Amino acid sequence: MPKSSPIKTVLIVGASRGLGYAMAEEFLARGWRVLGTVRGESRTQLHGLAGKSDGRVQIETLDINFPDQIAVLRAGLAGRAFELLFVNAGVSNNPEETIADVTTDEFVRVMVTNALSPMRVVEALEDLVPPTGVIGVMSSGQGSVANNTNGMREVYRGSKAALNTFMRSFAARHADDPRAMVLMAPGWVKTDLGGPEGRLTIDESIPKVVDVLMSVEGKPGLQYLDYLGRTVPW
Ligand SMILES: NC(=O)c1ccc[n+]([C@@H]2O[C@H](COP(=O)([O-])OP(=O)(O)OC[C@H]3O[C@@H](n4cnc5c(N)ncnc54)[C@H](OP(=O)(O)O)[C@@H]3O)[C@@H](O)[C@H]2O)c1
Repeated sequence: MPKSSPIKTVLIVGASRGLGYAMAEEFLARGWRVLGTVRGESRTQLHGLAGKSDGRVQIETLDINFPDQIAVLRAGLAGRAFELLFVNAGVSNNPEETIADVTTDEFVRVMVTNALSPMRVVEALEDLVPPTGVIGVMSSGQGSVANNTNGMREVYRGSKAALNTFMRSFAARHADDPRAMVLMAPGWVKTDLGGPEGRLTIDESIPKVVDVLMSVEGKPGLQYLDYLGRTVPW
């Protein structure tokens, strides 16, 4: 009898709702174990999923903007291994607000949450990903400098472009790393952040996002890919 393959585990940071939650649901449906993080103590969609998962969904608490919380999570995960670490958490601001209008506080909130904090999570947790594993971060097509020909969403774009650059620096610092790394552009999706005018439903984006993340297993180095697996110009 062929040996069944061991169950894989994904760690999704920011899995309470929206795209992160949908990823948790999708990986669970594909037979993976899921460790998802949420902020605070309130019940979220992920708690509902955990309740019907036969123990295959674990929930931890993390606000990525608090380094002490990242350290506590890391300590609690000692000895664990995750075939995929995916940092999904992110925020937007008023899309009409240009760099001329934004307050310093709002600029700092978006830049820290979308660029600095995801990298702090990657730096703290990357050693839990084995050599055959994947490290992914939710970027956006809006993070592309090359494709920024129409402006709009200036602060959000800047934060995702910064995230992309920090991830490139991480990859450069780990040049001999056998692991695959991905900056993911999920498409414009109808969520609280994407808004009702998004081009895609969550169901049109997330199964494909998961396909792409699974397709890079065993391919070392950093790629900036969209939900159809196409390279996004930096
Ligand atoms: N929707 C789109 O069209 C689109 C397109 C490109 C990229 N993205 C990116 O995809 C990711 C998810 O977006 P979404 O559309 O699913 O948005 P969403 O529905 O607003 O969900 C955002 C998620 O991020 C979490 N989060 C925000 N700040 C956090 C923090 N400081 N610490 C921990 N978790 C935090 C939220 O947790 P709470 O529930 O606690 O707030 C929630 O789980 C983001 O990185 C976003 O930039 C989205």
